[in-house]
Amino acid sequence: MPSQQETLLIVDDEAAIRRLLRQKLSREGYRCEEANDAEQVLNTLGTSPIALAILDIKMPGKSGIELLPEIKAGYPDTAVIMATAVNDINVAIQCLKQGADDYLCKPFNLEEVFLAAQGALEKRRLKLQIREYQQFLEEKIEEQTGEMRKIFLGAIEALVSAIEAKDKYTGGHSRRVTDIALVLGKELGLSAPDMEDLRWGSLLHDIGKIAVDQVIQNKPGKLTREEYEHIMTHVHVGAEIVRPVVNGKISAMIEHHHDHYDGSGLNQAIMGDDIPLGARILAVADAFDAMISDRPYRPAMSITDIVEEIKRCAGTQFDPVVVAAFLNTVGMTTT
Ligand SMILES: [Fe+2]
Repeated sequence: MPSQQETLLIVDDEAAIRRLLRQKLSREGYRCEEANDAEQVLNTLGTSPIALAILDIKMPGKSGIELLPEIKAGYPDTAVIMATAVNDINVAIQCLKQGADDYLCKPFNLEEVFLAAQGALEKRRLKLQIREYQQFLEEKIEEQTGEMRKIFLGAIEALVSAIEAKDKYTGGHSRRVTDIALVLGKELGLSAPDMEDLRWGSLLHDIGKIAVDQVIQNKPGKLTREEYEHIMTHVHVGAEIVRPVVNGKISAMIEHHHDHYDGSGLNQAIMGDDIPLGARILAVADAFDAMISDRPYRPAMSITDIVEEIKRCAGTQFDPVVVAAFLNTVGMTTT
């Protein structure tokens, strides 16, 4: 069934042939336009959408075979039927290889022309429908992925809050560390995807504390070596917990958030810039929030003391570049 939206372009340098095809195809219900050379074809394609071009191979100037790739590259949604006076199978194969949808021989059998046009247009409609459906599916998937991420993030935030509720000193810690880390990430010029990873890594960085003994966690005095080692297992436990649901950058960030820049941290496998940048940012953000909060073993520190302490640890515990970014954000300089 011809569609009212579909316009056909009849391309031939002989006016009599164009007229003949136009009469037949118009009678069948198609809207037709004409062109007598390559230049006219490109002008017409550039100004109105053409569903199908019936393209004569032999024309003065640029031939149909030369024009075909140009049409396919610039107007991939236009179907093309090639027409030639020579019944040459090699020419037909060459045209089909270059993207023509069909091939007709002159002198035309008008019924054959109609059937070829009908077939090419039907194929084109199907192609367009499939593409539209694919786009629809992609949009749906994107929408649902966004929804799932939102639900997952909500669940994770609830879990993080539940873990922090066990510890009277760290309520809201992960949320605050996230805010600080994102400020530092922005200062350091992180890309949007890296910022997104940093947000997740920060929010989840202490999730491994679910496996830490609450008594040790809340111990007011100094920790023994064993107790400290026990608490520090939360980095590996946390990385293991999140690994199935987040990307490798995020789990690495969690695994290394207590690493010292100079390699002096507990059981540390990597050091310096080998520590993921997200983990180096997290280390400063985490320390800042820890110092600004009351802890079982000491009260909250003043901003001046915190800044001094972070500055003092630049190059040892912390990456100096991240420290510089931190100092910039609090309006201080490295000197
Ligand atoms: Fe931690």
